[in-house]
Amino acid sequence: MSRQKITIVGAGNVGGSAAQRLAEREGYAIALVDIVEGLPQGKALDLAQAGAVCGYDSEIVGTNNYDATANSDVVVITSGMARKPGMSRSELLEKNTKIVRSVVQEIVPRSPSAVLVIVSNPLDAMTHVAHRVSGFPKERVVGMAGVLDSARFSTFIAQELNVSVLNVHAMVLGGHGDAMVPLVRYTTVSGRPVDQWMSKEKLEEIVTRTRSGGAEIVNLLKTGSAFYAPAAAAVEMVEAIIKDEHKVLPCAARCEGEYGLKGTYMGVPVRLGKNGVEEILEYELTAEEKSAFDTSAKGVQELCDEVDGILDAG
Ligand code: NAI
Ligand code: 2OP
Repeated sequence: MSRQKITIVGAGNVGGSAAQRLAEREGYAIALVDIVEGLPQGKALDLAQAGAVCGYDSEIVGTNNYDATANSDVVVITSGMARKPGMSRSELLEKNTKIVRSVVQEIVPRSPSAVLVIVSNPLDAMTHVAHRVSGFPKERVVGMAGVLDSARFSTFIAQELNVSVLNVHAMVLGGHGDAMVPLVRYTTVSGRPVDQWMSKEKLEEIVTRTRSGGAEIVNLLKTGSAFYAPAAAAVEMVEAIIKDEHKVLPCAARCEGEYGLKGTYMGVPVRLGKNGVEEILEYELTAEEKSAFDTSAKGVQELCDEVDGILDAG
């Protein structure tokens, strides 16, 4: 039986870590692609040699040529630029839009049945770019952010309560930005609602820390952003798809009617299986939660409108 194939575009911090996690799982064929010559080849060789120590023999190819990505089942896109000194937010948006567009144009003819998992930032807008450029059905283009943001929320709760993070089930919806919506009402610790475990003030502090969870790590690292947890989150989505797990995870999915949205990518609970997004689950939201969700959606929609302008300009 042939191995299931996963392409990772962008062999940087997130892409390299995701490749390592998948290689260690065994049984997959992995193509790691980057625009920088030698980078994906070097990381692929290093990962193959690690297999001799760790006892895995995953197929892993590093390349600058998209032909090696042909017939992938899942493609993870992590290629992108970080903001450089003096670069405006709009300039960065334009650069990453063009990078994601060029990558998707290479991937689609070679893997026309793949599910695309987008990681590049700004996440919701880049997922919109991948959907528009690929022409794929919305089910097969999905973004990673909610799994990471929920993992951060869970970690902070577990650390505060001194309980295992495995006891915490958290849910963060909305766009991947400061306006994300950690849903306290749907967050439990060993089945008990989290607001019964700590004061309202402490919970609010944790919600605020979750919203700036990415920035906290950027400030600590000083160069670059988080990658271990982002890679782990992307791999959880890849495996939910490739193993047809029907797993419910918060992901950026294109809502057409759900949550009152009309064709917008937003972080919502979805059921993931071999065809991608099998279902968007509509959780009942209070007026306050819905208002926070709508504020986040408005920000995402503005970015998507800007991205559409960039794509329309050619
Ligand atoms: P990185 O800078 O380490 O890696 C990015 C890689 O993309 C580089 O190796 C670069 O050469 C490559 N690249 C650039 N243009 C390319 C092109 N046209 N074709 C192929 N490869 C290209 O960055 P890192 O830390 O791996 O992050 C990657 C992206 O993921 C960034 O946009 C980052 O903001 C985003 N991110 C998103 C998260 C989320 O929750 N959605 C979490 C963490 C990172
Ligand atoms: C994060 O949340 C930078 O989006 C990235 O860590």
